[in-house]
Amino acid sequence: MLIDSLKRNINYLRLSVTDRCNLRCSYCLPKLYSNFSSTSEIMSDEEIVSLVRSFAELGISKLRITGGEPLLRPGLPSLIKKLRELKSIDDISLSTNGIFLKKFAPELSDAGLDRINISIDSLNADKYKSITSFGEITDVLEGIECALENGFSPVKLNVVVSRGMNEDEINDFAALTEIYPIHIRFIELMPMGETGYFSFDKRVPLDEMMKLAQPLDPIPVENWPKGSGPAKYFRRPNGIGTVGFISPLSSNFCSDCNRMRLSAKGVLISCLADDQGMYLLRMLRAGANEKEIKDAIKLTVSCKPEKHLMMETATEGKSYPQFMCQMGG
Ligand code: GTP
Ligand code: 5AD
Ligand code: SF4
Repeated sequence: MLIDSLKRNINYLRLSVTDRCNLRCSYCLPKLYSNFSSTSEIMSDEEIVSLVRSFAELGISKLRITGGEPLLRPGLPSLIKKLRELKSIDDISLSTNGIFLKKFAPELSDAGLDRINISIDSLNADKYKSITSFGEITDVLEGIECALENGFSPVKLNVVVSRGMNEDEINDFAALTEIYPIHIRFIELMPMGETGYFSFDKRVPLDEMMKLAQPLDPIPVENWPKGSGPAKYFRRPNGIGTVGFISPLSSNFCSDCNRMRLSAKGVLISCLADDQGMYLLRMLRAGANEKEIKDAIKLTVSCKPEKHLMMETATEGKSYPQFMCQMGG
């Protein structure tokens, strides 16, 4: 087991397979951003499998594939198939913007992917285009349909809420859970990268998001959709899906943290709010053996910070240095 200095059990690895993204969501990346890593800088399939094997042997059992946009990585289904062969990994999930899902859903299912979370911040085609710069909403909607048709379960939708952008759509999103077996999660805006400087003004706090999503009833934890992340779930009176909230600023969940992040460049990051990391890929390329890699993982886990200071950072009009896509989502 991987236990940090605060006795938190770390069993969840967020694995970024690319820092590239085909969209430029206004709160995430600048419209003209193109400073992505080159292919030689990021982990190869063999390097990923080798590192994840060490994590699995140390106690990681939940794996989430993130980006950037992970479906931009060539051959992702075949990588997932190899990761699936690691016996102690019992849950493999994917976080995607959904644009390419229609094309890949069947292959991903064949490869053994268990479940998918899809980002969608508006149900209106024009607004979706203006938030994402390049996205067509029909692609995402068809992607969500394909995820359901191909048996992924649960399918969750991620809605980052930003004032003036989409808080007027919270009720429409929540109402979708009365018609479809999907799980909508409203996410508080976090101060990440240079797009994060105005996050405090644009943040819609948890209590306001909850008011806008009413009517909602609490549901016992054992009836929450399968997951390893920080969302808390509710249900509409006639809901077949659920409504969740991820609110790191309004209600800090770090004391329950169970996760680490491995960036596409192979840097192990112990907290979303940390700008330091352990250069596992460099170690591997320099010839480090399995024991040395495992020792480096254990050391990084032991240095995991107690909590983020996002509220303080946002209130001061500051932002963390790295974009979300560089941190592995
Ligand atoms: P499951 O619960 O297993 O379905 O996954 P998840 O919610 O962990 O994954 P997803 O990639 O869908 O994350 C949704 C949002 O939660 C993203 O915006 C993440 O950045 C945010 N999030 C996930 N983990 C953390 C965390 O450790 N700290 C903070 N502050 N935000 C997180
Ligand atoms: N604050 C909150 N969520 C963010 N995401 C990207 N940037 C931010 C931010 N600054 C979300 C994406 C996606 C998830 C992986 O991270 O929209 O749902
Ligand atoms: Fe864990 Fe850091 Fe996220 Fe808090 S901010 S939940 S400590 S990764």
